[in-house]
This record gives sequence, C-alpha cells and structure tokens, in this order.
Amino acid sequence: MAITSDSELREVVREKYAELALAVDQNSGGCCGPTDVVSRDLYDSSEVAGIPVDALALSLGCGNPTALADLKPGEVVLDLGSGGGIDVLLSARRVGPAGKAYGLDMTHEMLDQARRNQAAAGVTNAEFLFGHIEEVPLPDAAVDVIISNCVVNLSTDKPAVFAEAFRVLRPGGRFAVSDVVWRRPMPPVLEPVVALWTGCISGALVESDYVGLLAAAGFTDISVEPTREYDARELVDIAGGMVSAELLATLDVPELLSQVDGLVFGAFVRATKPS
Ligand SMILES: C[S@@+](CC[C@H](N)C(=O)[O-])C[C@H]1O[C@@H](n2cnc3c(N)ncnc32)[C@H](O)[C@@H]1O
Repeated sequence: MAITSDSELREVVREKYAELALAVDQNSGGCCGPTDVVSRDLYDSSEVAGIPVDALALSLGCGNPTALADLKPGEVVLDLGSGGGIDVLLSARRVGPAGKAYGLDMTHEMLDQARRNQAAAGVTNAEFLFGHIEEVPLPDAAVDVIISNCVVNLSTDKPAVFAEAFRVLRPGGRFAVSDVVWRRPMPPVLEPVVALWTGCISGALVESDYVGLLAAAGFTDISVEPTREYDARELVDIAGGMVSAELLATLDVPELLSQVDGLVFGAFVRATKPS
C-alpha cells in the first residue's frame, strides 16, 4: 500500500487501532498487540489486581511507564496515546484521590473502551480526552508528568509531540515514556512497509535523534534506558504478524535478519522540563 502523506499515514494508524479496539472481545492480538513479543508480560500480576480484564487484553504498549515514572500522590499525569487505558488506571491509583490522570487518544473506539474500563474499575480521578499528541487539548503547565507507552514512534511529527509535552508540563515536570528505539537507522528496505509503522517498529526514532529532538524542545537530563531487547528472530515474528505473506516473500529475510539483529530495543526515556 502506497502512503503519500503524513495525514494518510496517521489515518492508517487510527484505523489499525480502531480495529484492535473493536477486536478486544476476540482477544485477537496482532501488531503491538497483547500476544506479540513487544506487548506481552509488561505488568506484574500484583500490580494489575483490580484492573478490568479488557484493559489488560487491550494493553498494546512496550513497557511499564507508570512503574518507572516515580509518580507521587497528588500529581497530575498525562498519558499520550492512552489506548484501552491501562496506564491511566494504574497512574490514577498511584497519584491517589488528590491527583489526576488524563488519557489522550485520537481513536474513538479506544476512548470508548478506556471509558468502559474506567467505569468497571470504579476510578474517579481519571479523564479520557479525544485529541492528537501533536496538539494536546490542555493548557500550558497543567501537568506534572507525561507518560506514554509505545505511541511516540507512531507519530508522523515527533518535534510537535515533544514541543507539546514541554508546553503542558509544569517547570520541573517529567517526561517518562516507554517506546521502541533504534540503535542505528533501520535498513531502508523497511521504510515503505506501512504495517511496520503501525506495528511500532519503523516509525521508531534512532536513539541519538530521540535525545536531540527532546533537547531541541527544551528538555534537560535526558536518558534512554533499554528495558527489553528484541532479537532479529522476534522482529521477524512481529513482521510475520503484520506484513502480508505476499510482501514478506519479496523481502530477503536472512539478509534483513543480519541487518536488524540487536538494533531495536524497548526503552524508558526520561527528560525534565527545567524549573
Ligand atoms: C500501540 S497503542 C498503545 C496504547 C496504550 N498506550 C497501551 O500501552 O496499551 C497506540 C495508541 O496510540 C494512539 N495514537 C497513535 N497515534 C496517535 C496520535 N498521533 N495522537 C493520539 N493518539 C495516537 C492509537 O489510537 C492507540 O490507541
């Protein structure tokens, strides 16, 4: 499928996640889905006690940002691309009744699931907002902590995401995001494979670009900590789940394996808005 513009690519991403949201009842998994190597085993069972099964079934992240973000009671948290809401519900629990957790997503089907999960969990200090992470519908300096789980890689305008994160954070606020990251640029042969973008692989930033773009937005104390390595075989499994057999047949898989081995990892990215 040929994609000719960023808006078209964003629409393909939205359609893919709408499909996953609607398929939650069948627990179909899929790219960046609960049964694939990126999204499985992210949460301890004790941590998710009391979280609705549908929120867990729709967990499509690549890390556990709420566990790493050092959330404190009373803080306001914003989850960029909140999907079925799992990290918003976990954050709401961590910040307590004096705090608040916002989830932001562009896919109505995901927001419907998230609000249903919120009601099932009986969480009152959370709110799910419709919108794009490149244009956050919150005022300046409204948030203490930005979290996100495997979503920045999907954006077609990463500088806008980081500028918006910086704008809505209070001075001293933290950016605490799980994401997929490349160690070096991906093989160019993968660039046109749209399914690898919607599956959180080919839109991912190279580590040095991630750091550079955050710094350009004004962030300091930037770090990229690997949390999970994906070996080449796992990437081929992910690709097998996302890419049509027809397309896969056109790729030189042994050659790709040798090129991507050790290059893609799940990371926890931290940065601070200076006080
Ligand atoms: C890989 S899923 C991750 C969902 C959730 N963070 C989790 O861990 O389960 C990506 C989510 O981000 C949303 N999304 C992707 N691009 C977005 C954008 N530019 N603005 C807002 N939401 C976006 C999708 O609708 C989808 O719900």
